[in-house]
Amino acid sequence: MNKKVLFLALSSTILAFSFFSSSCRRINKDSSGVEYMPDMYRSPSYEDNSYNPLFADSMTDRAPVKGTVPVGFTPFPFPNTPEGLANASQYWKDPFPATPEIEAQGKAIYSIYCIHCHGPSGMGDGKVAAKLPGPPPPYSDKAHRDFTEGEIYYILEYGRNMMGSHAGQLSVDQRCKLIRYVQTLQKIGQTSDTAKTVAAAPAPTK
Ligand code: HEC
Repeated sequence: MNKKVLFLALSSTILAFSFFSSSCRRINKDSSGVEYMPDMYRSPSYEDNSYNPLFADSMTDRAPVKGTVPVGFTPFPFPNTPEGLANASQYWKDPFPATPEIEAQGKAIYSIYCIHCHGPSGMGDGKVAAKLPGPPPPYSDKAHRDFTEGEIYYILEYGRNMMGSHAGQLSVDQRCKLIRYVQTLQKIGQTSDTAKTVAAAPAPTK
């Protein structure tokens, strides 16, 4: 009787021990235990962002071959140089018309990518602006109101000073629509400014 109990206790301990030790056996750090078909869980190929002994820089992610262009993509033809800027300002034209529909689509893009710094009316008073070393200038101030569509595209492509490039965040079409909306913000206050200048001008004397 006692022997039977002892045998049962002993055998169940051994069983439990072998069960736990096998389920906890670590084949590698990603493994949860026994694997019947490891290839079903983990592919033998290198994973994104992982270490790779095959390349000198040890990175699995490779840059596309130099000069690669995605299908259907037209590269911005103006280089990041003063001449590139001058030419872009003069010759780059927005393919989208300045219609209320396009401006509304541009506004939607602005509300996602620009508003937190530039503010709802482009006055440079977005919620993040206060945290920046220098807030963005109003689009409608003297220095910015006459920026051409080409210059704004150039800034979005390459960035300028504190203003980072948005070429990686926005497609070409998104940038073009966005520019149509920024152009409406550049006009804010312009008429009243002109009116003020006219009013302040000294009356002509005869
Ligand atoms: C992280 C904050 C931030 C975001 C987001 C941002 N900007 Fe700016 N932007 C700035 C700052 C700061 C400046 C002032 C740059 C300077 O002169 O240092 C600026 C300047 C500009 C200028 C004028 C550049 C000049 O010559 O003075 C334009 C045009 C502009 N931004 C457009 C945009 C558009 C369009 C978007 C949305 C895609 C955007 N920005 C998103 C911070 C931001």
